[in-house]
Amino acid sequence: MKLSPSLIPALISTAWAAAIPDTSDTSVAAFEDNHYDAVVVGGGPSGLAALSGLARVRRKVLLIDSGVYRNAPTRHMHDVLGFDGVTPAYFRWAARKQIEFYDTIQMTNGTVVSITAPDATINSNTTTPYFTVTTAFDGGSDATRNISARRIILGTGLRDLLSDTPGIRQNFGEGLYWCPWCDGHEHADQPFGVIGPLSSVPSNVREVSTLNKDIIVFVNGTDTEDNRKALDTASPGWQSLLQYRNITIENRTISAVVRLRDGSTANNGTNATAAALPSVEEYDLFRVDFEEGPSIERAAFILSIANEQASWVGRDMGVALYGEGRMYTDSNLLTNIKGVYAIGDANLDNSTNVPHAMYTGKRAAVNCHLDLAKEEASKDIYIEQLNSSSSGSTKRSVPPTPLDPRALWNVVNGDLDDVLFAGEYDQ
Ligand SMILES: *[C@@H]1O[C@H](CO)[C@@H](O)[C@H](O)[C@H]1NC(C)=O
Ligand SMILES: *[C@@H]1O[C@H](CO)[C@@H](O)[C@H](O)[C@H]1NC(C)=O
Ligand SMILES: *[C@@H]1O[C@H](CO)[C@@H](O)[C@H](O)[C@H]1NC(C)=O
Ligand SMILES: *[C@@H]1O[C@H](CO)[C@@H](O)[C@H](O)[C@H]1NC(C)=O
Ligand SMILES: *[C@@H]1O[C@H](CO)[C@@H](O)[C@H](O)[C@H]1NC(C)=O
Ligand SMILES: *[C@@H]1O[C@H](CO)[C@@H](O)[C@H](O)[C@H]1NC(C)=O
Ligand SMILES: *[C@@H]1O[C@H](CO)[C@@H](O)[C@H](O)[C@H]1NC(C)=O
Ligand SMILES: *[C@@H]1O[C@H](CO)[C@@H](O)[C@H](O)[C@H]1NC(C)=O
Ligand SMILES: *[C@@H]1O[C@H](CO)[C@@H](O)[C@H](O)[C@H]1NC(C)=O
Ligand SMILES: *[C@@H]1O[C@H](CO)[C@@H](O)[C@H](O)[C@H]1NC(C)=O
Repeated sequence: MKLSPSLIPALISTAWAAAIPDTSDTSVAAFEDNHYDAVVVGGGPSGLAALSGLARVRRKVLLIDSGVYRNAPTRHMHDVLGFDGVTPAYFRWAARKQIEFYDTIQMTNGTVVSITAPDATINSNTTTPYFTVTTAFDGGSDATRNISARRIILGTGLRDLLSDTPGIRQNFGEGLYWCPWCDGHEHADQPFGVIGPLSSVPSNVREVSTLNKDIIVFVNGTDTEDNRKALDTASPGWQSLLQYRNITIENRTISAVVRLRDGSTANNGTNATAAALPSVEEYDLFRVDFEEGPSIERAAFILSIANEQASWVGRDMGVALYGEGRMYTDSNLLTNIKGVYAIGDANLDNSTNVPHAMYTGKRAAVNCHLDLAKEEASKDIYIEQLNSSSSGSTKRSVPPTPLDPRALWNVVNGDLDDVLFAGEYDQ
């Protein structure tokens, strides 16, 4: 038997009634009594997108947001349809305001400190398995509290590891950036610098090739024989590219990057703070000082910087890291741990931007919802079979044998065009 779409809401709401206690009290104090379909860790674009997707199908979801955001240093967000040129805080505010409309979700400040997987010995055919999410509220001054969730969505993001060279951290995001799509257009045609190891030069030069012509690359002492040889292999023709573009290599060790002008106000009369336009020129100006010799002035820079997971809760609960320390996921954004998804910058596809974060949040929400729906249907069917066998019902004598996974899949999976169609069993 296939379930018709009209049966699905009834099926889901029955399961809810059993699994989800009353959550009408939305205060933090109520959390300890609450069980959630999912907890979303992180309130950046990926977490908000996951929350939105789950809110739309009336999942009971809690978003826990520490208030630490990778894009906090930047002036404006760009290349996000409908939000080009707004501040990151405005984007989050607008998203939260929309999602708030849905009454099955909650959002709270808090920092998740650890997550414990469900007890593997419980019988998940009859008892709902819950992750335990240990969370610090109120900036960590409060004792931690435990929240339970059937699924975990990690939108915990990355942290940029900025150099200690004076002026880099202090000015990051305001004339010093790493993503041309996010910040480059505001500095187009200005005297420009690339700061990074020699190995990063060709890709950075290509990325800004349509934005800046007057470019100096500051390789900070990495222009060595060995690095040149490595680059000849990794990026053949890189020297011709630099010659053709009239780009000079500055190899001296940087001692400081000093701000001479602030582009958030120096924008020739256009109020960039107001963000009334998608893109407003920002006339920052910096002086690069070296350990020896004269300084050089530049208006803006692209930087090459390393990064790492902003939170270790995924790794610490056993999520495998992959490549450059990104959380492993399959194409459904599921990690190696059943029931745990990783979305946004923190996962393994090396794509780190807001549209990608929103896409992965949305995709995880769809898969999470369908996975929960399967679990609910399977439990209902299993219990119904036990009931009918123990009551000796003659009306419906469904055999008490547990369904094998394939049979169960055939029961709960929709037809090709159904909303619950989730692909063939052997996909
Ligand atoms: C919640 O996080 C925001 C930053 O996003 C912060 O300004 C605010 O103080 C936090 N509130 C609490 C109660 O921790
Ligand atoms: C929270 O859960 C963890 C992991 O299951 C447990 O070790 C801890 O004692 C719990 N804390 C509270 C306050 O219940
Ligand atoms: C420049 O090189 C020095 C010495 O190796 C290093 O300490 C510093 O972090 C580097 N600065 C930048 C901006 O890469
Ligand atoms: C660049 O600087 C490094 C470190 O000071 C030095 O070893 C290297 O020889 C320099 N390269 C050139 C081409 O001068
Ligand atoms: C490089 O400089 C030369 C000489 O000034 C100039 O003719 C040429 O157009 C420049 N090339 C680029 C790509 O700007
Ligand atoms: C805008 O102001 C900057 C800094 O004062 C100046 O360098 C630039 O030429 C001005 N641009 C225009 C279009 O007026
Ligand atoms: C620019 O706009 C912001 C936000 O509307 C406002 O707070 C600020 O005073 C304005 N600055 C100037 C120089 O007009
Ligand atoms: C991401 O980057 C890492 C390290 O550079 C690489 O090993 C991995 O294959 C990349 N992943 C994808 C999906 O391209
Ligand atoms: C199974 O039986 C129990 C106890 O009689 C009852 O509460 C429950 O609703 C039944 N469940 C189903 C799915 O029929
Ligand atoms: C749960 O149900 C599945 C499929 O019906 C069955 O294979 C499994 O043995 C059951 N597990 C327990 C602990 O009863």
